[in-house]
Amino acid sequence: MALRLFTLALVFSALLLLPLFHVSASKATSDSDLDEEDLSFLDDGDDASSPPSSSHDLDHSFEDHSDDEYDPDLIGEGGFDEFDHGAYEPPAPIDDKDVVVLTDGNFSDFLESSGNVMVEFYAPWCGHCQALAPEYAAAATELKDSDVVLAKVDATEENELAQKYEIQGFPTVLFFVDGVHRPYQGPRTKDAIVTWIKKKVGPAVYNITTTEEAEKVLTSENKVVLGFLDSLVGPDSVVLAAISRLEDDVNFYQTVNPDVAKLFHIDHEAKRPSLVMLKKEAEKLAYFDGQFTKSAILDFIFANKLPLVTTFTRETAPTIFDNPIKKQLLLFVTSNGSEKVLPTFQEAAKFFKGKLIFIYVEMDNEDVGKPVSDYFGVTDGPKVLAYSGNEDAKKYILEDELTLESIKSFGEGFLEDKLKPFYKSDPLPETNDGDVKIVVGNNFDDIVLDESKDVLLEIYAPWCGHCQALEPIYNKLAKHLRGVDSLVIAKMDGTTNEHPRAKADGFPTLLFFPAGNKSFDPITVDTDRTVVAFYKFIKKHASIPFKLQKPESTTKPSSPSSAEADAAGEVPSKHVKDEL
Ligand SMILES: *[C@@H]1O[C@H](CO)[C@@H](O)[C@H](O)[C@H]1NC(C)=O
Ligand SMILES: *[C@@H]1O[C@H](CO)[C@@H](O)[C@H](O)[C@H]1NC(C)=O
Ligand SMILES: *[C@@H]1O[C@H](CO)[C@@H](O)[C@H](O)[C@H]1NC(C)=O
Ligand SMILES: *[C@@H]1O[C@H](CO)[C@@H](O)[C@H](O)[C@H]1NC(C)=O
Repeated sequence: MALRLFTLALVFSALLLLPLFHVSASKATSDSDLDEEDLSFLDDGDDASSPPSSSHDLDHSFEDHSDDEYDPDLIGEGGFDEFDHGAYEPPAPIDDKDVVVLTDGNFSDFLESSGNVMVEFYAPWCGHCQALAPEYAAAATELKDSDVVLAKVDATEENELAQKYEIQGFPTVLFFVDGVHRPYQGPRTKDAIVTWIKKKVGPAVYNITTTEEAEKVLTSENKVVLGFLDSLVGPDSVVLAAISRLEDDVNFYQTVNPDVAKLFHIDHEAKRPSLVMLKKEAEKLAYFDGQFTKSAILDFIFANKLPLVTTFTRETAPTIFDNPIKKQLLLFVTSNGSEKVLPTFQEAAKFFKGKLIFIYVEMDNEDVGKPVSDYFGVTDGPKVLAYSGNEDAKKYILEDELTLESIKSFGEGFLEDKLKPFYKSDPLPETNDGDVKIVVGNNFDDIVLDESKDVLLEIYAPWCGHCQALEPIYNKLAKHLRGVDSLVIAKMDGTTNEHPRAKADGFPTLLFFPAGNKSFDPITVDTDRTVVAFYKFIKKHASIPFKLQKPESTTKPSSPSSAEADAAGEVPSKHVKDEL
């Protein structure tokens, strides 16, 4: 489900865990064409500050990379480590008299004597369990007179059960039908739980024969599909049933009674089969007008079952990520500012039904809104972002004032692939004339993709130990090379900046972008991390040849030889002297 779809987040955090490239302990064997050059002057003191050579020592303990995750299932979801949390406040008591308490002692007997049992494994201190409790209790009450029982097990007390069912996090909800269980992973709301259970144990499609039954369904349910058919049995009914099995959170009904159809806002003279979906939300009705086939109806239901604008929460996340529509438009705004822009956003959503998912992210919601805003690099709202949601997840930002027109044309541009992607970026540096150029998301194209320069880029993280060890070496390299006009030594904080051409396999990642060849992938720099090794690497891969002038102080006073001086071009020797 959601996890699978957010490979991006997963891959990125997984990559962080990988050690970088191997720093081989042996020195690079010399390159024949470089041998002529005496590079000893580059080398002074470097080796002492070389980074450790083990490829196993990780740069960082990765306890805090929640910023890189969009899927709330990954954001601080309560696992057993919540045991450590000392401050536990008992929840306000709720009435869950219809939820059966089970223990190691009576679990098996109870399951044997009752056919269908949903069991919640919880921990008293778990916040998500507390949030689920009232919904779970209400679901139990609603299903009281059916043949389904809702039960709960305190997994911190009932160790045998917790072990037997391999409970890894809380709450874990399992549904047992005749002793066989499967997990419930849907939204943690009463309606979703009840609908899901009915789907698992009841008929896929219910008949509505009288208007009384119709009224009852209309008043009690939030999201229903009604098929208006010629017959309650037969191919159309089979199609409905098949789709219903695939749709866990929508109830399906069928009728042949025109008066029933009318109550569901289908014209009683409408052709049959016809189909309508009703929701108790802002925009209630959706009529299906395609071919009465499984795939066409399934698409229709997917497109229509979300509200116009879905507020991003743990509960709604599965519906968002499981939707076959991957392209999303996200509105980031704090809850106190939403009143002004949300209606406009909602209005715009009407034009994109079935094409884009409209999502509202409450930026000041600490649980999910804030982490999602961080993930997208949005710091101040209101902002509208487009997100392609596929593997190569591109983001686009709407820069104009948020109006119905601007959001509409932004959405259209997005669908037509006409927008310019947005990259997470620090502000442009005020000055950038150091030896090591500062690259951020917004100047990456100008600096790194400049076709007239050979560019070495270090992507680092402020917390990364190897990056810190590399810094003096990198600075020294840049200082030596600052006179070479065709060469840029640059660095980018990979935690606050991004660019599709800068894929970091951990920190630091060193990439070389040869001049005149910027449309190709950069070369990964996998040498020793010494000034000399870097220099040799650059020398070897640079598109524009250069020769570094040796500083006068380390060579014979009569040097530089005329040949060397010519080759070195305009290397101002005074810079080199400064350092030595
Ligand atoms: C199982 O045992 C617990 C603890 O004795 C009790 O509270 C609970 O009601 C029992 N459940 C059933 C279904 O008998
Ligand atoms: C609906 O009606 C048909 C025809 O009478 C019947 O075969 C079917 O079992 C009914 N479905 C339900 C869920 O009652
Ligand atoms: C809304 O709340 C944020 C903090 O959550 C605050 O900084 C901002 O000033 C508030 N805006 C208004 C209009 O009240
Ligand atoms: C450009 O880079 C590609 C891939 O690394 C390489 O095959 C090609 O030879 C390069 N072209 C030039 C002109 O350097």
